[in-house]
Amino acid sequence: MIIAIDGPAASGKGTLARRIAAHYGLGYLDTGTLYRAVARDLLAAGHDIRDEAAAIAAARNLDPASLDDPFLRDRGVGEAASVVAGFAGVREALLALQRRFAKRPGGAVLDGRDIATVVCPEADIKLFVTASLEERARRRYHELRAKGFEVTREQVRDEIAERDRRDRERDTAPLKMAEDARLLDTTDLDIDTAFKAAIALIDEMIGR
Ligand code: DC
Repeated sequence: MIIAIDGPAASGKGTLARRIAAHYGLGYLDTGTLYRAVARDLLAAGHDIRDEAAAIAAARNLDPASLDDPFLRDRGVGEAASVVAGFAGVREALLALQRRFAKRPGGAVLDGRDIATVVCPEADIKLFVTASLEERARRRYHELRAKGFEVTREQVRDEIAERDRRDRERDTAPLKMAEDARLLDTTDLDIDTAFKAAIALIDEMIGR
């Protein structure tokens, strides 16, 4: 079974995807990590984040063993990832790895922006997880404050809005809901309620 989960930044899709994978005993790939790692490698090699040729080379040379790096979750890396994710050559270079993971024996959950539309259009289950901008900003703000970052709610909201815009408006594989995906709006749901709602949707789709 392949479960594709897409949605905008800070929608809760990552936490949900991880819990869904554990619930059904499936492998889990956070595909945002791949783009984050490309941005990290590109900057570490001293290139500009807008250097397309260098970004493509970084994607082609990505070491899958380097994805555990806690630095990838840092504030700012998501922004940089969103820039390199706009290059078609970067996306192309990361496609085979994602598809290989999806086809692993035993099944997989992948989360990202284009899983249901591009990476795994044949997925058995497609969920689009979203929440209002205000609510996503509120969650991310509390997360960042808990980690000790001095940010304001407005800064966080502006950053998320900018990332949404970039992810939605790019030419290649933009963030959008697949026609055959089910929508899960978590604006008014805490994580446990959202998880139960996701499991109910999936069980209904697989006829359990
Ligand atoms: O989900 P995330 O915040 O870790 O993703 C970081 C960036 O990577 C996101 O802003 C856009 C890009 N991304 C993408 O373009 N396609 C994916 N499947 C996953 C992430």
